[in-house]
Amino acid sequence: MELKKLNKKMPKIWSPFIGLPLGLAFLSFIFFKLYPLNFNSSSLHHQKLFSVEELSLYNGTDPNLPIFLGVLGSVFDVTKGKSHYGEGGGYNHFAGRDASRAFVSGNFTGDGLTDSLQGLSSTEVKSVVDWRDFYSRTYIFVGKLVGRYYNSEGKPTKYLKGVEAKAARGSQLMEKQKTEEAKVPSCNSRWSQNGGSEVWCDDGFPRLVQRPLEIALTGKMSKRCACFKEDELEKPGLEIYEGCDFLAKRCKL
Ligand code: HEM
Ligand SMILES: *[C@@H]1O[C@H](CO)[C@@H](O)[C@H](O)[C@H]1NC(C)=O
Ligand SMILES: *[C@@H]1O[C@H](CO)[C@@H](O)[C@H](O)[C@H]1NC(C)=O
Repeated sequence: MELKKLNKKMPKIWSPFIGLPLGLAFLSFIFFKLYPLNFNSSSLHHQKLFSVEELSLYNGTDPNLPIFLGVLGSVFDVTKGKSHYGEGGGYNHFAGRDASRAFVSGNFTGDGLTDSLQGLSSTEVKSVVDWRDFYSRTYIFVGKLVGRYYNSEGKPTKYLKGVEAKAARGSQLMEKQKTEEAKVPSCNSRWSQNGGSEVWCDDGFPRLVQRPLEIALTGKMSKRCACFKEDELEKPGLEIYEGCDFLAKRCKL
């Protein structure tokens, strides 16, 4: 008896309690199928994958499309920065592609517009990672570029892991340089139209010194002015400013 009663209720699929959710599920299925570029869904899953050709459509030329930019294979919607990235913008070359290397080289022409970071120092690689952080903070992440940094499944490649490891070393080196430099105070410096430039120490004597880690950091030489106490002045590697006395506290350059 009881069973028969239940069976009679079963066929009522048209009931709003079943039909409504079913209908909504069907509509959202259609919606997500027809709009693969649905930003909410893609940023939720972080899985919209671009090819180089697809990304190039979003280079700011078509006014009906958003502007996308890639850095280390992460793709961001930079449409709100149209004045920089749109047609005629100073950074238009970053639009529609991954030109990671140009973030440190500043070379926006020809082969300069590449995503390869080969041969860059660890601190330069760190600065590209900082740019990616900047875009994450400032713009909307829309997906990944399949290629050097992400494979066709959207997984990070060996190359991306290598870049991140190198950036971490760069970051450590920069920290070390900061603590090393904090041990010897920097000179004060001033520049004026008539007086030219000068350096001086409130405590100690101005000397030019090679930044210890700079060669490891950038492959380039770089010096800074630091203030040394009288009993430190015989240390190797300290350079007296040209035309400045051994015990002068102030040097005109
Ligand atoms: C390696 C060289 C350089 C790179 C890769 C670079 C990159 C960029 C990028 C990507 C932006 C846009 C940031 C955003 O989306 O808000 C920007 C903005 C800006 N850049 Fe550069 N830049 C470089 C050199 C310079 C130099 C040499 C100057 C000045 C002499 C400069 C001045 C500016 C200014 C003023 C803005 C802000 C513009 C605004 O907000 O209206 N940049 N830069
Ligand atoms: C942007 O891409 C379109 C289509 O790929 C191309 O015709 C156009 O020249 C590109 N514009 C720029 C500024 O690179
Ligand atoms: C930019 O890079 C290209 C290719 O590597 C090179 O030929 C060109 O001289 C570079 N330009 C500047 C301004 O450094």
